[in-house]
Amino acid sequence: MTYRDYQPADFRRLCEIDRRCFPRGIAYTVTEMAAILRRHGRLAMVAENVRGVVVGFVAAHVLGQGRGHLVTLDVLRGYRRQGIGRELLTRCEERLGAAGVRRIRLETAASNRAAHVLYISLGYTFVRMLPRYYPSGEDAWLMEKALEPSDVRP
Ligand SMILES: CC(C)(COP(=O)(O)OP(=O)(O)OC[C@H]1O[C@@H](n2cnc3c(N)ncnc32)[C@H](O)[C@@H]1OP(=O)(O)O)[C@@H](O)C(=O)NCCC(=O)NCCS
Repeated sequence: MTYRDYQPADFRRLCEIDRRCFPRGIAYTVTEMAAILRRHGRLAMVAENVRGVVVGFVAAHVLGQGRGHLVTLDVLRGYRRQGIGRELLTRCEERLGAAGVRRIRLETAASNRAAHVLYISLGYTFVRMLPRYYPSGEDAWLMEKALEPSDVRP
């Protein structure tokens, strides 16, 4: 697997992956995805298979004052449980840390056990429930991680 920065040519593929990874009502629309990837302070990386096909990605924002927001983490079904999600997130954290982020927050669906296990294994903790956070009406958990100096590469 190869990991590299997102490029605008990846945009359609990222929209497709997000649609395949999340149910309707949680997946981002094309307009939302464009806004996410255009936003100032955006950090996005993709995972490419041996044929150069993007099979996963992560997107985050540097918010200022040491805060960062993990927007989404997506790995296509056939590529899961191979460490790609963890690798994307770890690389993203390193980049956020290098950009001055000291506390990362994210929202994840209350029913998304795979994501909870992954985030907890990487040091995230539950902050509070966000009732009816998604347009589908599903609740979310707000999760948070403080980056340790050892997470932050100079
Ligand atoms: C959540 C997601 C990104 C994980 O990606 P992945 O590449 O499969 O994750 P990894 O292989 O790096 O798994 C890392 C660890 O997370 C945990 N984990 C991942 N998937 C899991 C599952 N289905 N059940 C339980 N634990 C799981 C395990 O601890 C795993 O380590 P292990 O395989 O050594 O046991 C992927 O399932 C996905 O894209 N889901 C749909 C979109 C989504 O929910 N995104 C996250 C919410 S924003």
